[in-house]
Amino acid sequence: MKITDRTILITGGSAGIGLAFARKFLELGNEVIVTGRRRSSLDEVKASYPKLHTIQSDVADPSQISSLAQRVKADYPKLDVLMNNAGIMRHRSLRGRTADLDELTSELDINVGGVIRATSAFIDILTANRGTLINVSSALAFVPLSSAPIYCATKAAVHSYTQSLRFQLEESGVEVIELMPPAVKTALSSHIPEGGPVKLMTTDELVKQTFAAFKKDKLEIRPGQANLLALMRRVAPGFMNRQLWKASKSLVPIEVR
Ligand SMILES: NC(=O)c1ccc[n+]([C@@H]2O[C@H](COP(=O)([O-])OP(=O)(O)OC[C@H]3O[C@@H](n4cnc5c(N)ncnc54)[C@H](OP(=O)(O)O)[C@@H]3O)[C@@H](O)[C@H]2O)c1
Repeated sequence: MKITDRTILITGGSAGIGLAFARKFLELGNEVIVTGRRRSSLDEVKASYPKLHTIQSDVADPSQISSLAQRVKADYPKLDVLMNNAGIMRHRSLRGRTADLDELTSELDINVGGVIRATSAFIDILTANRGTLINVSSALAFVPLSSAPIYCATKAAVHSYTQSLRFQLEESGVEVIELMPPAVKTALSSHIPEGGPVKLMTTDELVKQTFAAFKKDKLEIRPGQANLLALMRRVAPGFMNRQLWKASKSLVPIEVR
């Protein structure tokens, strides 16, 4: 992937992994636009990185994606990279009935619906500019961390979707990259205890390994333990799944009866 002279939109770029990539892309002189739901977080990052462009937008809302696409195409006609990064993770108990059936599928709306809808909304400009799509899934697309069952299902869905997308766009000039991070130290992973069996990578290390892969034109990027998980799900899936269940069992919320 070409990493300079690009105009890049990162969904969920006001914190964590998205912000770390936004900072690196800015450092390399690219034009970078980030989105997020909370205006306060966007204002804070804008104050720290004045060259960053910020737009408040929720990827779970189809009408907000449409207006985001309209605005970005008008204001940044050179847009040639979309990084579908916005995502949430919830640890959930599946043992009891859930009172809030709407909230139960919030990860699907954001992690899957957001990726599919944003890709569709921007595919015309990415094709016109022979751009790059980067979908951020997870190493948990390969093996479930069973305390977060719906999250892992969403990442498996994004992995499958991205493979199909890459085939369909083969002749279009649009490059399709999937970034499959291992556990990374951000707000999203704050429930995962440090020093336990799940090792947490820093965002700086993730960016470093990912940029090394960008420079080698890799399309499926599996930094750190993600590569090991990809291998283990082939050689010993039952063992691997149980190890992750043991490591995450205590994260399942206790249901109130
Ligand atoms: N951290 C990990 O261990 C890890 C591992 C593998 C993959 N990933 C993936 O990496 C991506 C980023 O995760 P992270 O760890 O950086 O999480 P994070 O630190 O919680 O940051 C999430 C970012 O996404 C934004 N966001 C959340 N929901 C959104 C929505 N509906 N619309 C627009 N923006 C939204 C957040 O801002 P607002 O809350 O203000 O909207 C924030 O900027 C996710 O797709 C995640 O699944 C993370």
